[in-house]
Amino acid sequence: MDYLDALNKRYSVKKFNAEKTVSPDALFHILEAARLSASSLGLQPYKIVIVESSEMKEKLIPAFYNPSQISTCSHLIAIVSKNDIESQYIGDYFSNISQTREVPLESLNPFKQSISNHIERLSKEEVMTWADKQCYIVLGNLMFAAALENVDTCPMEGFKQEKIDEILGLDVGIEKVAVTLAIGYRSEEDEFQNFKKVRKPTEKLFKFI
Ligand SMILES: Cc1cc2nc3c(=O)[nH]c(=O)nc-3n(C[C@H](O)[C@H](O)[C@H](O)COP(=O)(O)O)c2cc1C
Repeated sequence: MDYLDALNKRYSVKKFNAEKTVSPDALFHILEAARLSASSLGLQPYKIVIVESSEMKEKLIPAFYNPSQISTCSHLIAIVSKNDIESQYIGDYFSNISQTREVPLESLNPFKQSISNHIERLSKEEVMTWADKQCYIVLGNLMFAAALENVDTCPMEGFKQEKIDEILGLDVGIEKVAVTLAIGYRSEEDEFQNFKKVRKPTEKLFKFI
């Protein structure tokens, strides 16, 4: 599908067809778009939790302000930001670079040192805010990939932070859900699919200088 057609066709689904499940194949492709996402310094300061069990979706319903998507979606993807970007984490990242690109670990030391210095200067709150931003890049890629796979989505940040973190068993203080994405197939009853897209006109949005 042409990517602009896909973006025009997508909308934030309010009610999915609860009978339809995203196939493992399509899910794998969509998740690969998350894995391939760019991130600041390449550190991927997040983890991605895929909720597929009905029991867990049921448990999560009270954590959302508008849960019609949670009770009907095929999968709920929670993008979790992390602020424990410490020496072990950075060390693992550099081992990965060294192995993947077949370069000696020592040759990466200057880059490693500059990254470590940069992160060390930030408070835990600042690291979390920075990590949150990276999570939204993942969100955008997931939504785009899903649209190209003909899978519908609804990005959702209307949740109760403490509740969702607790239900997902996150390590509070170190991890938190930044944003979630419900995926599945639109219900015929969802009237939102008939609404026209509301976007700023080109001349108001873009400024060429
Ligand atoms: C980061 C983010 C969070 C959102 N959170 C919610 C949400 O909690 N519940 C909801 O129904 N829609 C949510 N939306 C959907 C927006 O309202 C929607 O994208 C916007 O109105 C544009 O409409 P469209 O996506 O249908 O084109 C969210 C969108 C984004 C990008």
